[in-house]
Amino acid sequence: MGRTSKDKRDVYYRLAKENGWRARSAFKLLQLDEEFQLFKGVTRAVDLCAAPGSWSQVLSQKIGGQGSGQVVAVDLQAMAPLPGVTQIQGDITQLSTAKEIIQHFEGCPADLVVCDGAPDVTGLHDVDEYMQAQLLLAALNIATHVLKPGGCFVAKIFRGRDVTLLYSQLRIFFSSVLCAKPKSSRNSSIEAFAVCQGYDPPEGFKPDLSKPLLDHSYDPDFNQLDGPTRIIVPFVTCGDLSAYDSDRSYPLDLQDGSEYKYTPPTQPPIAPPYQEACVLKKTGRLAKEIRPQDCPISRADALSQPLAAPQRHTQLAPEVWKWGSEPISTPAQCASICPQSCGLGAEILFPASQ
Ligand SMILES: C[S@@+](CC[C@H](N)C(=O)[O-])C[C@H]1O[C@@H](n2cnc3c(N)ncnc32)[C@H](O)[C@@H]1O
Repeated sequence: MGRTSKDKRDVYYRLAKENGWRARSAFKLLQLDEEFQLFKGVTRAVDLCAAPGSWSQVLSQKIGGQGSGQVVAVDLQAMAPLPGVTQIQGDITQLSTAKEIIQHFEGCPADLVVCDGAPDVTGLHDVDEYMQAQLLLAALNIATHVLKPGGCFVAKIFRGRDVTLLYSQLRIFFSSVLCAKPKSSRNSSIEAFAVCQGYDPPEGFKPDLSKPLLDHSYDPDFNQLDGPTRIIVPFVTCGDLSAYDSDRSYPLDLQDGSEYKYTPPTQPPIAPPYQEACVLKKTGRLAKEIRPQDCPISRADALSQPLAAPQRHTQLAPEVWKWGSEPISTPAQCASICPQSCGLGAEILFPASQ
């Protein structure tokens, strides 16, 4: 696959690099702003789940450029510095992180809290939706501590089965709650953004970090709200109708006949969790399991024990190997016993149990 194939396939990815944004997500916030004028009068903002930092870039340009603006960005992952952005590395669901964020706004509340947080998706939709909802609620909990009355909260939301329960929580705190889908967010994704304007907590509400707004013991039937209690929020697509469709592939723009010039990413993640896996892959040491069904029968028959259960090579130490539970002391022995004749390093499993 060529370096430019993703540029063709994902026009917002390409445009992000060409315009100096760290991620294509920048367009989501820009398109949300086009629709809702999120940045009007904003001088203090919080960017939750900010890495690699394209939303913080947008915020610092839109509000930080005036000199008086303040942006606080928070993420689990380290993020390269940005001018005018204060960074906190931490988990927004943790009390200590929440307290650290709140400290920045004591006596001087924020106008805007945004959260583009996404958990590592598992592919199990219920689990993913639940994790996403928890992130949103952690963000909302922080927002209730730092937002000024009338302030705005924007958060990524998964439009799953239980989403109306989240809307009803949000409606407790904001006079207007909408569900927005920027054109740069793929139609094929259940992602959307809850845009909550007019922060107006119930009378007597005291923000309390020790009480999650919605804890896991909630009654699932509660979500089956109907009649007047059922919350249906307006759904708005944002981004000009002429904006690029994020589900389409576009040819590279080469009208003048010149060769397409590849633009590298603006700011690769500085310490991504997948870094170790990349190094292992480059050095040919990434986990690859040899399944019994992949073994040529003649060689599998020659093994000292039947391959009933999946067996694997395991690197124990640089010179000690195992085939299943049988120790293999040298690469040559490995090559002789291994049905794939993989030899040292061709089929290594990781991590090594020492
Ligand atoms: C889609 S990315 C955000 C992209 C960002 N808005 C941008 O424009 O560059 C989602 C981020 O959520 C962060 N995240 C997930 N769970 C988190 C948590 N519990 N606390 C803090 N950050 C979290 C991830 O580390 C990841 O960087």
